[in-house]
Amino acid sequence: MSKKIIIAIDGPAASGKSTAAKYLAQKQGYIYLDTGAMYRAITYMAIKNDAFGHEDKVIELAKNIDIKLSFEDGVTRVFVNGDEITEEIRSPEVNAKVSEISKIAEVRVEMVKIQRKISQKGNLVAEGRDITTVVFPNADIKIFMTAELEERIKRRFKEFYEKGIKITYEEVRENLIKRDKLDSGREVSPLKKAEDAFIFDTTNITVEEEIDRILDLINNKLNHNAITN
Ligand code: CDP
Repeated sequence: MSKKIIIAIDGPAASGKSTAAKYLAQKQGYIYLDTGAMYRAITYMAIKNDAFGHEDKVIELAKNIDIKLSFEDGVTRVFVNGDEITEEIRSPEVNAKVSEISKIAEVRVEMVKIQRKISQKGNLVAEGRDITTVVFPNADIKIFMTAELEERIKRRFKEFYEKGIKITYEEVRENLIKRDKLDSGREVSPLKKAEDAFIFDTTNITVEEEIDRILDLINNKLNHNAITN
């Protein structure tokens, strides 16, 4: 069987990872792996089961959780133990707590196991915080996506607004700053640029430009690999 291709995208909240990853997955017919959705799912379950703040309970949950992600027509759906929690995992409460859960080493071990298993099924586009550095350090293409803070706040606020979720601009700002800090500052698998990742700044470009540039990047890299291998 031919080698599977992995495109790995890391970056802070609302930097444009999902937009790019979803588009690429659809265009190339690759599996889309939203690893943030998995950490969000555990967080939601921890809140629901009164386990938040009790590391042992959270680890137990992570070890036994059955997470299924589906991706159809550009939409990711998330199921835990058979129940759909697609909307629930994007709530302000989950946003506020997810970085506390994702810094637990044992939780990460369980999630990475699932992520690597999914990668065996076919070509893949994966996004997260540790994809280029820890989960798939040998990915064919590694991108570190970024955008200025103000732009990211604007994007995330617009998403909440469009979904009818009540949250202030200031609350969105606070959450992004806090998560960036926790995700980049934690001991286990912190968000950082892999040495060989391309930095991709989406601050002043439209979604169409973002996609065009990423496709160029990928075509160049994959063609180059085909010539040199
Ligand atoms: O969509 P957004 O970038 O805001 O967040 P996300 O990708 O859904 O990730 C939510 C949270 O999960 C992050 O803030 C991290 O704390 C955690 N995460 C992680 O630790 N490692 C990953 N590979 C993906 C997400």
